[in-house]
Order: sequence, then structure tokens, then C-alpha cells
Amino acid sequence: MSRLVVVSNRVALPGSDQAGGLAVALNAALQETGGLWFGWSGRIVRGASGELHEQREGDIAYLTVDLSKDDFDGYYNGFANRTLWPLLHFRPDLVDYNRETQAAYRRVNALFAEKLASELRPDDIVWVHDYHLMPLAQELRKRGVKSRLGFFLHVPLPSADLIAALPNHQLPFGALTAYDLLGFQTQRDLERFQDYLRLYAGGKVLRQGVLQDRDGRQFHAGVFPIGIDTPVIAELAADAVRKSGVRRLKSSLAGRALAIGVDRLDYSKGIPERFRAFARFLERHPDQRGKLTFLQIAPVSRGGVNEYRALRRELEQLAGHINGGLAEPDWTPVRYVNRNYPHATLTGFYRMARIALVTPLRDGMNLVAKEFVAAQDPEDPGVLILSSFAGAARELDGAMQVNPYDLDGVADTISEALEMPLDERQRRWRPMMERVSRYDIHAWRRDFLAALAATPR
Ligand code: G6P
Repeated sequence: MSRLVVVSNRVALPGSDQAGGLAVALNAALQETGGLWFGWSGRIVRGASGELHEQREGDIAYLTVDLSKDDFDGYYNGFANRTLWPLLHFRPDLVDYNRETQAAYRRVNALFAEKLASELRPDDIVWVHDYHLMPLAQELRKRGVKSRLGFFLHVPLPSADLIAALPNHQLPFGALTAYDLLGFQTQRDLERFQDYLRLYAGGKVLRQGVLQDRDGRQFHAGVFPIGIDTPVIAELAADAVRKSGVRRLKSSLAGRALAIGVDRLDYSKGIPERFRAFARFLERHPDQRGKLTFLQIAPVSRGGVNEYRALRRELEQLAGHINGGLAEPDWTPVRYVNRNYPHATLTGFYRMARIALVTPLRDGMNLVAKEFVAAQDPEDPGVLILSSFAGAARELDGAMQVNPYDLDGVADTISEALEMPLDERQRRWRPMMERVSRYDIHAWRRDFLAALAATPR
């Protein structure tokens, strides 16, 4: 069996507390064949980029690279997060393009390829993750690497015309054709890639999922919607309700229902729109005021990027404004928290909540939606309010789907969700639970790796 090599910007090093579902699944995959996880070390150093660190745990080696401040600023804060991230999330208005950061992005991808190439054996299977590393395959091929190379895009892919508005779009996007297999979250993402390939990258779609680059080389693409570790989440949630953090939240609600939102503090998540929609709900449904408390957990993210700092200020103001105008002496409508919580606590919060507000303006998948479903008590499940612009909306058809820009629509949906009878809540929840159980995170990684192993060499 071939050895698996995982490459991603962030590496879930053993002993770090990044034990999210993805890290667990990739570690499980690496464990099966023995493997290597390669990426950034998480360190920004004074001198030059490139120092390597190796750690081992059982049959898995973790090999990571330090980056200099200039490289990190250009590659991560700059091109990845100020250029690609907004573009990929359909926000050309926020795209900041400049040639220096694009050069840093290319430099870091070349450095990663340089360090990785000498570690690779021809029959390795290499699985690269996300938008930080789109040109990696091209750089590896330049260095003579013959292994199978797969890429999974965790975020959405925008329409071809939007991609084409990026100067030198061939560097990150055209370079994707050097992989053997490209994985996308949804059918629409795949279709948009195929359009881009035909219209702007000189390639061809031979048939659905079988593609050709501008030089006539064939490669493959498919849809692999990412999942969660469903039985683990369900069990964590059932246990968590007995734990003190979760019980304290419950008693603090004094019998009121809970609506919950959990997101990295990111403009793609539609948090200000959600706050406004919640305020609109209170205004349009005064009889329901005081029956529902909204808890938004939003751990700070990418603080080195201006747009994220501006969003944080906006939310602080909005939460203050809504509470100032609508709170009662014994009730605060919006509880806004920037702290991060352990998974076990979050799943307990999900289970306690009557409503989840998952209303991103764009999202590749959104695993909070799936985890909320998995965490519910089958006897008394909560209601998922889900943006139709999240990848998860393609699978979770028992959710109440909303357009996050339609504040009145979201407001009225909250009101309806709050009144929803038990039998309807169960009727909506069961098929969603069935779906997240059937196609979980392990099915996802097995599917992708089987498809990659089956690509012709
Ligand atoms: C998204 C991206 C991931 C990224 C994560 C956290 O989920 O798809 O690639 O790792 O956000 O963002 P950060 O910039 O902190 O790694």
C-alpha cells in the first residue's frame, strides 16, 4: 500500500489542541499506511525561511517549515488571506491584489516543494489541502516528483469570470491542472472550475470529472463533501450536558430558549447580518421578546489582516447597540463571546440550543451545521437555520434554509423555528442525522483517497 503524505498550511502536530474532526480524520488516514504530514511550523522567524522540524508519533512523521516574517506576511496575511480568501468567497470588493504578495505566495509554495520533493518516494500518494497551496503540484512536478498528487479545496470556488478578474490568475488557478485529482465540496464548485478551465485556462472537459489541461494532459476532478466524526460528536454532546460549563449556561438562561451561532470571526460568516436579523426578529415579533437568548461565539481569527480587525470593531458596536436598545434589566438578547471553547463544551451548547443560526454569506461546507445536527437529542431536537449559500445546504434539506441578506426573512424564520412543534422538529432532523451519519469524515477521506489512487499514472 502506498504511503500517504498530507500537505497543509497548518499541521495538527501531536500534543497541540487542534484536535478538530479534520485533524482526527487525516491522522487516522496517516496511521493506516504510515505517513508524513508536511506544512508550516507555526513559527515566524527573524532570519530566512526554510528551517525544518521533525516530530514523530507512531508511524507518522510531522515535518514542518519555519517562515520569515516577510514570507509569512506576503504569503499568508497577504496573498492567501487578503487576495484569495475574499475572491474565493465571492467578495471582489475586498480583494487586495499586489505583485509582491503574489510573489511571496509563489516563493513559499516553491520552498515547500523544494523541502518536500527530496522526502517523496515515487509511489507515495500526496494529498494537498486548501487555497494556500494551489501551485504546489506544479512546483513539485518541476522538481521531478512522479507521485500521485491530489488537491482538496475546502472553500468555495467562485465563478470563472470572477476568477479571471484576478491579475495573473493562471498562477494560482491555472496551476491546479498539474494535480491528478481535484476535489471540491459541491457540484456547483466543480462546475465553476470546469467553466474556468474551458474559458480561461485553455483546457477541456472531456466528460464530467475527466479534464484535459492546455497541453493535452488528462486529470480528474470530483465532488467530495466533507463530513464530521458523527458518532464521536453525538457521544460528546450527550456527555457534555452533564458537565458544569453546559449546566451553568442552562441555568443562566432562566428557562428561556437558546439560539446559538459559532463561527471564526470572519466576514464570510455573515455575523453582522445575523445580529441585525436577530434584532429585526425582536422588533417584528414583540410577543416573542424575552423568550429567546442569542449566544454568538466568535473566536478571533487572522488578526494580522485589516478587514478582520474592522469586523471585530463592527460586531462590538452592533452587539452593544442591540443590547442597549432592546435588553431588559433581567434579560440580555445578545451574548457575544470571542473565546474559543473545547469541542466537548461546544457540542453540549449545541444540544441545549433550540435554534442554530448558521448564516454565512458564502461557505465551502460549514461543519458547525453538521455538528449541530449530530449533537441533538433525538427526543427533542433543535432547529437548524441554514444559509442556502453554505455547501452544507446541498445535503441538509431538513434545515430551514434562508438567504442571509434577507433580514426580514431570517427574522421571520427565527420566529417560526421558536414555535416549531416537536413532531416537525423530529421530522426535519431525522434525515439530516441519517445523512451526516452515512457520509461522515472517514467516508470522505476514504472516498477521496480511493479516487486519487485510481487515477492513471
Ligand atoms: C478555513 C480554511 C482553512 C483554515 C481555517 C482557519 O476553514 O479553509 O484552511 O485553516 O479556515 O484559518 P487559519 O487562517 O487560522 O488557518
